[in-house]
Amino acid sequence: MSTAPKTKDVKEELAQLVMEVSSAHDLMSGVVKLLHERMLKYNWVGFYMLETAPGQPPVLVLGPFEGAMTPHTRIPLHQGICGAAATSGRTVVVDDVSQDPRYLACSLETKSEIVVPIFVRGKVAGELDIDSHFPAAFKDEDRELVEYCAALVGKYLGKTPSQTQQ
Ligand code: SME
Repeated sequence: MSTAPKTKDVKEELAQLVMEVSSAHDLMSGVVKLLHERMLKYNWVGFYMLETAPGQPPVLVLGPFEGAMTPHTRIPLHQGICGAAATSGRTVVVDDVSQDPRYLACSLETKSEIVVPIFVRGKVAGELDIDSHFPAAFKDEDRELVEYCAALVGKYLGKTPSQTQQ
C-alpha cells in the first residue's frame, strides 16, 4: 500500500509546525515526534548535527530523536551509513542493513535505514536518520518526505544562524 496520502497529511502538519516553533531545537523535536507517530514503519527517527571544533575532526552528534536510546551518540565521518551520507552530501537508502558493511547497529530489530543530509547555506550541517524494523521500508515517497523534512530544517537553520547549536 502506498504511503503517499499519509505523506501529504504529514507535510501539512509540518507546515503548521514550522509556523508555531520558536527555535531550531523545537522544530527538530517536533519533526521527529511527528514522523515517529504518523509513519508506522519509522521506528527510530533522529537528527545528527555536525560538530566542528578547531583542531578536532568533525563529528556527527546526536540531536533530538524518538525511539530507543542509541549507543551511537557521536559518529565520526568515516563511520556508518550516517558518516557516508554526511561525507557524500547525498541521501543513503539501505534496504537490508545486514548486507551493508558500513552499518553501525543501533537496534537488533532494525532492517532498513534512510539518512538524508541537511544543508545550510550549501554545506552539510547535519542529517535526518530513520531506522525501520521492516526491510526495504523506504520507498520513493518516503525518500521525498524525509528529504522535505531535512530541507525544512536546513532552511530554518539558515534563517536563524544563532540557533544552530541550540
Ligand atoms: N545506523 C547508523 C547509526 C545510527 S543509529 O541507527 C541510530 C549508521 O550506520 O550510521
